[in-house]
Amino acid sequence: MVDYYRRRAPEYEAIYHKPERQHDLAALEGYLKKTFSDLDVLEIACGTGYWTQRIAETARSISASDISEEVLAIATAKSYRCPVRFHIEDIYRPGHSAAALHDALFGGFIWSHIPRQQLTAVIETLAARVCAGGLLVFADNRYVEGSSTPIHAHDAEGNTWQQRRLNDGSEHLVLKNFPDKSELQTLLSAFGELEVQELTYFWMVKCRLFSNKMRH
Ligand SMILES: C[S@@+](CC[C@H](N)C(=O)[O-])C[C@H]1O[C@@H](n2cnc3c(N)ncnc32)[C@H](O)[C@@H]1O
Repeated sequence: MVDYYRRRAPEYEAIYHKPERQHDLAALEGYLKKTFSDLDVLEIACGTGYWTQRIAETARSISASDISEEVLAIATAKSYRCPVRFHIEDIYRPGHSAAALHDALFGGFIWSHIPRQQLTAVIETLAARVCAGGLLVFADNRYVEGSSTPIHAHDAEGNTWQQRRLNDGSEHLVLKNFPDKSELQTLLSAFGELEVQELTYFWMVKCRLFSNKMRH
């Protein structure tokens, strides 16, 4: 997965040019700008900074990270409307900056790449980086026949895999899950109050963490 996104970095944003997704992309952009208005946001797996740039139009500040130097090189070359700090970080092994607490966290199109069996542990680590009463926000793809890459395989844990091809001709088997609303509710309701929205191509979930941050 990491190698795949390194190699995909220069062509990554082509995914945001699919004509049939433009309406939903505009809706997601509006949702994120409203949600993060005036907040200090921690963005994980920020990729080329596509959403960072949009969130920066309303956020107070952003700390954005990704595991790949190649995508961060593209992200850091862009300009932003609020202060943005970038750093390399693996969501499975957060570094020293993990001690800082933020108002909100955003994970765009990364949930689908986290193995189902690791989701609860990852969410626990991420929730620990947001202040009590703060927000965890995720957005990702819904499976749409004819627009999504077909599912190539299922594994024993219930993860789904796609066979993807890059412009250089290389083929990659990529874990890509499409959780439904009830899976999102089951996983996140232990952490806070939830609001799930489904568009045609995307879902988004906003979890307002419990004020004592104890899992319920
Ligand atoms: C589908 S892209 C999403 C990028 C960006 N959030 C967006 O929506 O445009 C997934 C990103 O996750 C990053 N990634 C993959 N594994 C990671 C990990 N273990 N820790 C942090 N980032 C990771 C990849 O490098 C890639 O940039």
